[in-house]
Amino acid sequence: MDIKSKVAIVTGASSGIGYHFSKMLVTSGAKVYGLARSIDKLSKIEDELGNHFVPVQMDVRDHDKIKEWADDTFDDDHLPDILINNAGLGYFADIENLKVQEWDNMLDVNLSGVFYLTRCIVPLMKENSSVCHIVNIASIAGILGNPSMTGYNASKFGLRGFSEALFKEVRYDGIKVSCLFPGSIATSFFDKIDEMDIHPGMMQPEDMADTVKFLLQTPDNFLINEMTMRPLNPKAGN
Ligand SMILES: NC(=O)c1ccc[n+]([C@@H]2O[C@H](COP(=O)([O-])OP(=O)(O)OC[C@H]3O[C@@H](n4cnc5c(N)ncnc54)[C@H](OP(=O)(O)O)[C@@H]3O)[C@@H](O)[C@H]2O)c1
Repeated sequence: MDIKSKVAIVTGASSGIGYHFSKMLVTSGAKVYGLARSIDKLSKIEDELGNHFVPVQMDVRDHDKIKEWADDTFDDDHLPDILINNAGLGYFADIENLKVQEWDNMLDVNLSGVFYLTRCIVPLMKENSSVCHIVNIASIAGILGNPSMTGYNASKFGLRGFSEALFKEVRYDGIKVSCLFPGSIATSFFDKIDEMDIHPGMMQPEDMADTVKFLLQTPDNFLINEMTMRPLNPKAGN
């Protein structure tokens, strides 16, 4: 895919890797609909990136509003080419201390939110005569279980299964599906998590964006459906 002039949707665009995906796409010539709840942060990103970044205030748990937005935004003359399902969050606690609301929030945002948006975008991508690409941001926690991560692991393992099934379902419609499994990245993801701060041993969000750029630019009949990224030395700098 040549990213120039493509139409992209990025969820969780207000911070972290979602911001860097948006910046990479806009600087590569795409138009980006950036979805998140924090409209103030999205507006600042629009100020920085220009009008090829379109801020969309959206809670990915709100399936009715997502459907309404997709119906209002796209038509036969304006179809999406790229969807990056990136919005997500983690609460880490032992099973007896993980709150029901935290479990529900992780499953709703990290998994159901991906379903709500993807079900609206796939029919539009099927109308698109160009090859399209859906990139789902899981985590290394979508492959490896860890203590205190039951809910986060469940949501990201779920996203891996969703992605594998969707890849097989839509490959003959000219839609690529890739699921990514990164280890720790230095973002505000860790702000909400006690006793876990960012440190120099983590991967950098710019490097994630470069990797997604490479993924999107692969030839049309070449699909990387899963990709794992790890810091070489996660303890570096400690
Ligand atoms: N950082 C890591 O080490 C790491 C490693 C592996 C995987 N990941 C995954 O990478 C993705 C991005 O995380 P990040 O590291 O960039 O963290 P981040 O800086 O905290 O970004 C999370 C993004 O998700 C959005 N979001 C959260 N709840 C939302 C909701 N209900 N509706 C819409 N948007 C919502 C946030 O926007 P608002 O708050 O404005 O809504 C924000 O833009 C997540 O899926 C995370 O699980 C992160």
